[in-house]
Amino acid sequence: MESSEIRKKFSDFFRERRHAVVPSSSLTPDDPSVLLTTAGMQQFKPYYVGKADPIRDFGSKNTASVQKCFRTSDIDEVGDKTHLTFFEMLGNFSFGGYFKKEAIRWAHDFVINELGIDRERVTVTVFGGDLSAGPGQVPIPFDKESFRIWHEEIGLPKEKIKKHGRADNFWGPTGNEGPCGPTTEIYVDGVEIWNLVFNEYYQNSDKSLRKLETPGVDTGMGLERLATMLRGVDNVFETDLFHPLVSKIQEVKSGLEDKVLRVLADHLRASIFLIADGVRPSNKEVGYILRRLLRRIMVYEIKYDIHAELFALAVDIVRETFGDAYPEVKNTKEIFAVMMEEKSKFEKALALGIKEIEKYDVITAKDAFYIYETFGLPWELLGELVPAKVRGLNKDNFDAEFKKHQEVSRAGSEKKFGGHGLILDTGELKASTSEEVEKVTRLHTATHLLQQALRNVLGLDVHQMGSDITAERTRFDFSFSRKLTDEEVKKIEDLVNEAIQKDLPVYYKELPIEEAKKTGALYFFKQKYPEKVKVYFMGDFSKEFCGGPHVANTFKIGKFKILKQEAVGSGVRRIRAVVILL
Ligand code: SER
Repeated sequence: MESSEIRKKFSDFFRERRHAVVPSSSLTPDDPSVLLTTAGMQQFKPYYVGKADPIRDFGSKNTASVQKCFRTSDIDEVGDKTHLTFFEMLGNFSFGGYFKKEAIRWAHDFVINELGIDRERVTVTVFGGDLSAGPGQVPIPFDKESFRIWHEEIGLPKEKIKKHGRADNFWGPTGNEGPCGPTTEIYVDGVEIWNLVFNEYYQNSDKSLRKLETPGVDTGMGLERLATMLRGVDNVFETDLFHPLVSKIQEVKSGLEDKVLRVLADHLRASIFLIADGVRPSNKEVGYILRRLLRRIMVYEIKYDIHAELFALAVDIVRETFGDAYPEVKNTKEIFAVMMEEKSKFEKALALGIKEIEKYDVITAKDAFYIYETFGLPWELLGELVPAKVRGLNKDNFDAEFKKHQEVSRAGSEKKFGGHGLILDTGELKASTSEEVEKVTRLHTATHLLQQALRNVLGLDVHQMGSDITAERTRFDFSFSRKLTDEEVKKIEDLVNEAIQKDLPVYYKELPIEEAKKTGALYFFKQKYPEKVKVYFMGDFSKEFCGGPHVANTFKIGKFKILKQEAVGSGVRRIRAVVILL
């Protein structure tokens, strides 16, 4: 059975049973409590809780859909036989129209009569109840009714009806709160194919449950898994949903191992669907997920020596395979342009990152994370480029480092840049193109010189209070209690420019923190430093704790110019300065 036929059979079946067949909603939902659409029921949340009227909107209390879904929770599992990021879900829904009896009977009929699956192959699970609730949980009783329907009305022998607990057979809300309830799952040959949720409750954001006035039905059946089973193939990538893409990749590059092929096929398809729904690569939220998918594809192109343009061939194949069901993927020109723009950003970041790598003898997890954050060079690629330098590096440490910083830096960049795609973001330095990276790097070295010049002119009570460097300017805050005179400003500027003219070498030493302090280098009291720190030297003019990046010698900075000084709070002054290439 072709996948298009499964979609059609499903829609027809429920249309004949008084369901309004509703188009898939976008992968990026209106619901602010979730990032992406992960289930068919999501677009119907308002109907379950009585906030919207299904009769007015659909002419029926019952709907059915084939929904585009994306689950980030499975990203790292992709590569095996079943896991995917993007997938399609067949579902039927009711908001006070029908309940357990009809839902179970129709699901069973569809499986046996429409899909032609032998009754003997079918087993089910129901919610066995959970009275010993954990902290923040309320006890929930056994779903006797579903058990009874399966056994007495459908005639399934008791031994084919398994009772499971909360983890397996209770659907929690998508997002912080929402409809939820016991589930019953249908298995064929021991593989779960269909999940029927009976939304009897609403979970509040404090995790407490209340009974819903009108209980609802929410079912979901993954199309890819169903297609795998119906076609009797070994894995999802051998179904008609994936076969054209997979065989094309094999055609342009033979000998790829299964895992690589599968990751490529999944990520290419998923990226195209995300872009078609308006997602653009960035460093925040959904844009960040898309960026991760695209960059992983590009890393694989390098790592496995694939010279064909995978983006180009994938947009065509996805259009052919899915264009009828999802017309938005026919917009291949724009989708491809978005992919290529990300490719050019990645290539520039890559060139800079490779230069950075040359500075290290050994790359620790922290360094690897820094390189990833600053230059967008993923961990996997380091192993390819410089295997000897990352020999001691452990992926778990890298992931731990990654998780630690991810939330923090994303939140920060989002606030300042409204999600503008940054390729460099150390917290202090921010740039979104390679030209900007080059400029902020010059400004960064100049900022070190500035701090030293301030201390030379104004005295050793001057300490850094903050700094922020973008491609436009450096902004440096320091402790000082009065306005600087024009002479002082001029003197500071001159000192910096003299240091630049001397073309001082810029280099660093990595030292245990106590030893680093003994060098007399400046450090920022607000910053938390690791056990080992880098001390950056600019000739003998300046020494300071810093993670980089910096230019190799000070002449590269160009001319330094102070634009203005201002007060920011009592005892703190701010200087804005720029650098100009003459
Ligand atoms: N919401 C449930 C699921 O996603 C049933 O549709 O499995």
